[in-house]
Amino acid sequence: MKRKVIAGNWKMNMLPNETIKFIEELTPMVKDTENEVILCVPYIDLFYALLNAQGTNIKIGAQNMHYEESGAYTGEISGKMLKSIGVEYVIIGHSERRQYFAETDETVNKKIKTALANELKPIVCVGETLSQREAGKAEKIITKQTELALEGLTEKQVKELIIAYEPIWAIGTGKTATKEDANEAIKAIRNKIAKIYGQTVADGVIIQYGGSVKSSNAKELFEMSDIDGGLVGGASLKPEEFSKIVNYNK
Ligand code: 13P
Repeated sequence: MKRKVIAGNWKMNMLPNETIKFIEELTPMVKDTENEVILCVPYIDLFYALLNAQGTNIKIGAQNMHYEESGAYTGEISGKMLKSIGVEYVIIGHSERRQYFAETDETVNKKIKTALANELKPIVCVGETLSQREAGKAEKIITKQTELALEGLTEKQVKELIIAYEPIWAIGTGKTATKEDANEAIKAIRNKIAKIYGQTVADGVIIQYGGSVKSSNAKELFEMSDIDGGLVGGASLKPEEFSKIVNYNK
């Protein structure tokens, strides 16, 4: 069976000392899962997270990176820097970055390429706004975002990445997409990938759902045919709640 991948996105939360404590508490709670567990933490916490997750099944990711390899980009972090300390994953194109930090489909595409060149696995976010959904445009928007994000990538590169379908109206609102709607949207993304790279590649790509995932709805979402796990915001900030999401099939 295809693996399920459950990633926490801490966003701008948690200090280094809280990170250490969190990983100490989470480790025994998730040690027996067959699902992949990832924590995407703020830059300042990465080193502590990596040190404390050593020897566990918890993998560590960042939440953003720059698309250039190095240079005069004050305040930015490169893919090479992330790789040098042992980071494995990096979220790219989260809707909060698209909304507040001028991230575009073009910068998302560039970042994915640089991440892959540095052997980081990108978690690429796509998702529609409420008005786009209400206008019946959700599928068109997310498939276009997917196409632009993947532009110029080889089949081999596409196999390395994870896509997270995160409807913007479901993020931090407590409003989850229905399991059927989430599954349909993810199927549409997969069909788009199949059109470009073929069905076998598309079937192999991990596509997560994100948006108000919690322990009470994780199971019904993750059991859907096309949903390969979740990208979890608020509910990833408490070890016990996050462990229940990771262990949704226990
Ligand atoms: P919430 O789980 O808090 O809705 O956030 C989802 C998200 O944006 C994860 O990247």
